[in-house]
Amino acid sequence: MELTKEQRDMLEGKKGNAVKKSMSILVALGEIYGAKRLIPVTSVQISGVSYDNLGDAGLEFLDEMAKDGKTRVKTTLNPAGMDMENWKALGIDPEFARKQKLVIEAFKKMGVEATCTCTPYFIGNKPNVGDHIAWGESSAVTYSNSVLGAKTNKEGGPSTIASSLTGFTAEYGFHLDKNRQAHFVAEVRAKVDNPMLFGALGQVIGKQAKGRIPLITGIKKATTEDLKALSASIVTYGSAPLFHIEWITPNKTSVPKEKIVIEQEDIDKAVKEMNDTEDVEFVFLGCPHCSIGELEKISKILEGKKVKKELWIGVARPVKRMADEKGYSKMIEKSGAKFACDTCHVVAPLKGRFHSIATNSAKGIFYGRGKNNFKTVFRTLEECIRLAVGE
Ligand code: F3S
Repeated sequence: MELTKEQRDMLEGKKGNAVKKSMSILVALGEIYGAKRLIPVTSVQISGVSYDNLGDAGLEFLDEMAKDGKTRVKTTLNPAGMDMENWKALGIDPEFARKQKLVIEAFKKMGVEATCTCTPYFIGNKPNVGDHIAWGESSAVTYSNSVLGAKTNKEGGPSTIASSLTGFTAEYGFHLDKNRQAHFVAEVRAKVDNPMLFGALGQVIGKQAKGRIPLITGIKKATTEDLKALSASIVTYGSAPLFHIEWITPNKTSVPKEKIVIEQEDIDKAVKEMNDTEDVEFVFLGCPHCSIGELEKISKILEGKKVKKELWIGVARPVKRMADEKGYSKMIEKSGAKFACDTCHVVAPLKGRFHSIATNSAKGIFYGRGKNNFKTVFRTLEECIRLAVGE
């Protein structure tokens, strides 16, 4: 791989140990994937933030990198294993909390913005069309590639840190336009008009994509929240972290010959498959983390009601602050529902604490089953809240 003088200096350790280690990660990746060069990135989203996933070995690696590593581009974090302020109310073990705080301290020492969210595009880490970036969390990667039109591979934790500390990534995969063309058309002939159904659509297309890129046709309208849900689901169930929607997403693609058709019965079947109990113990909304619009909606539905089941709302802390100012948080908390800022039902250590979950997220269903052995109920946001209040 051809390196510039600046990049060679980094690799030789002239800019410190953390940069040296970072550059060797990027060069190794570039060589594995046949990259010709390293290119600058404008934004990084670091994955692998929960102590539940990192463990002590991960924490040691971060401490080592934080000794002399400093971020060179805007960098935010994926959700952590707990709400960094409100962890006690969410029932997190104090020893886990101590370790999770050490993880965040290490990132802060590197200069990372310690906002832990899978929707960095709601809090100012929003790349422009065509920007090369290095993001880690799969729904955010898919949203940025598809909806924002930025260019990123689905990076692992160490490579996102390496990009943050050097400002570069290896040019391969989705950084190259030739790899961003659709492989098949997915024609939607079903009614898909809310985030839950966009999640179901993602499950249907994802399962048939087998790692390829779809061009989705037949969708007339999609909100930010719909596209957020689709981004999370489609990649979880098997698609590449990039899709195109005719007339809606910014990327241009040629139209492939292969076509699949999605009928109403396919969506209905997907919804049915994601329900395997009626008995709900725990309700989670905000997978991916809620927009301010979703918080407004939740607050209006919860106004004057009391929850009977544990209801958590996943959100980036700055979006929660906006909700505080608008009065939505007060209405939500008055009902007994809890904000889960900085975290979510998948990265928090919840295994064994609940046996079943209701959510409007198809991704949440997948990981709720896979990681936490939850029985699942898949409903719209409104229906999930009704279940939480016992209506
Ligand atoms: Fe975000 Fe957690 Fe869902 S990271 S996409 S809320 S599984």
